[in-house]
Amino acid sequence: MAKILPLKKLPNILMNVADLTRIKQDVAMDDYYILSLSIAPEWQNHGLGTALIQDSEIEAQELGCRSICLDVSYSNTRARALFERLGYRVAASRTSDRFHAVTQAGGLHRMEKRFAE
Ligand SMILES: CC(C)(COP(=O)(O)OP(=O)(O)OC[C@H]1O[C@@H](n2cnc3c(N)ncnc32)[C@H](O)[C@@H]1OP(=O)(O)O)[C@@H](O)C(=O)NCCC(=O)NCCS
Repeated sequence: MAKILPLKKLPNILMNVADLTRIKQDVAMDDYYILSLSIAPEWQNHGLGTALIQDSEIEAQELGCRSICLDVSYSNTRARALFERLGYRVAASRTSDRFHAVTQAGGLHRMEKRFAE
């Protein structure tokens, strides 16, 4: 039989996923979206992240996508700088008090790169 759980009994992880969902921006059907990008710490700063993004851009264009986008937290200024160097711009930003309180990351910037028509 289904039971109604009080909110405080929900595991924190579920609360956090729900909160993340609330501040995530929608992705248009003809956009290519990078859900997550992470290089193992010992391999960071060797050009792998750049290569993966550039490969994704080629794939996105082959698929006929209009643009490519990803999310980066307000506090991740180094990653944002990398994406800006690669031609990405902040298209929208969103946060909530709870998201910031839980993550200390501020909020999420949606960064986008449009392909030439
Ligand atoms: C961000 C990340 C994907 C870049 O990949 P990479 O292979 O390390 O990057 P590259 O060697 O191609 O380019 C170097 C640039 O990446 C960025 N970068 C490097 N290490 C980083 C780190 N730990 N956190 C955030 N950005 C980082 C910087 O802009 C760096 O340039 P700089 O040295 O002039 O500051 C990778 O460092 C990573 O997985 N970081 C931790 C997780 C993360 O921040 N993911 C991005 C969330 S969208």
